[in-house]
Amino acid sequence: MKKILTCLILLFLVAVTYAGCQQRATDSEQFSSEERIVIKFSHVVSEMTPKGLAARRFAELVHDRTGGRVEVQVYPNSQLYMDGEEVDALIDNRVQLIAPATAKMTQYFPQLLLFDLPFLFEDYAQVHRFIDSDEGQAFLEKLRGNGMLSLAMWDNGFKVMTSNRPLRNPSDFQNLRFRIMPSRVLDAQFMQLGAQARDLPFSDVYAALERNLVDAAENTPSNIYTKKFYLVQEHMTISNHGYLGYLVLTNEKFWTSLPEDIRLILEETLAEVTAWEREAAIYHNQRDLELIIKTGQIEPYHLSDEEKKEWKKALLPVWDTFLPEIGEDLLRAALR
Ligand code: SIN
Repeated sequence: MKKILTCLILLFLVAVTYAGCQQRATDSEQFSSEERIVIKFSHVVSEMTPKGLAARRFAELVHDRTGGRVEVQVYPNSQLYMDGEEVDALIDNRVQLIAPATAKMTQYFPQLLLFDLPFLFEDYAQVHRFIDSDEGQAFLEKLRGNGMLSLAMWDNGFKVMTSNRPLRNPSDFQNLRFRIMPSRVLDAQFMQLGAQARDLPFSDVYAALERNLVDAAENTPSNIYTKKFYLVQEHMTISNHGYLGYLVLTNEKFWTSLPEDIRLILEETLAEVTAWEREAAIYHNQRDLELIIKTGQIEPYHLSDEEKKEWKKALLPVWDTFLPEIGEDLLRAALR
């Protein structure tokens, strides 16, 4: 009897231990190397920007929802690849997710030039109306080629100008050297104002401003704050003259080879994070603008409505130049 009881207790202890192990085994160790999926997500900005935070959130949610089977490794701050390298890395499947600014993808998908048109969007609501519209969705669907597939669009926000002299009127731009992202619209924008444009990778901007290789730049408050550009510029004009958004891109072959259940989880999670990122972008850009001003390191200037009108008028020829390439239908849909 005693023996039977001892055996029963032992059996019970083994069963409890096994059940405990089963419960705890939610991490990647439970998957064989064939089952485990690693997704490298490379980007160039700080972790504390809307894109950086969204990439991290995506990684965490995917880990939880796949029980650790899918590991999204996020590499911020150009740690893995910088501008100009990350697209090649995606095409070669050395990374599986990137989220470059639309401006940086205009050489692959020229209609993306639309997003760089000065004063195209009044506010985030207009951007979202366009992206969520049938025309906007059909446009995003078309963004595939060279082995790349677009999955979503994320916001950063509206750009302001930073410089070493006050910028209030179009004539103030004469002969200044502006750092730009590689987009023909951005190049034309500064040419139109009598300035020069220099295309530089994001990771080189701080040093270029510090060493006076360029005099000025345009970016969003979240990028200016997290990369401390306000320390190497004297003036900031809050112009909100252009929108900066991102294309979340994957390697098409990689994505379509994923098990269907996993791809579904990734796509649903991405849609959820995209909605979350929109809120984060509004919040962080507003907050970071306040934080930049609070540092007292840069002289802020809010462009008046009258001055804004002058800038718009001066920049109208840029729209005319690129309209044939962008297409009237797409432009009309974005203006709704
Ligand atoms: C980014 O927001 O990803 C970088 C933008 C820039 O290159 O200015």
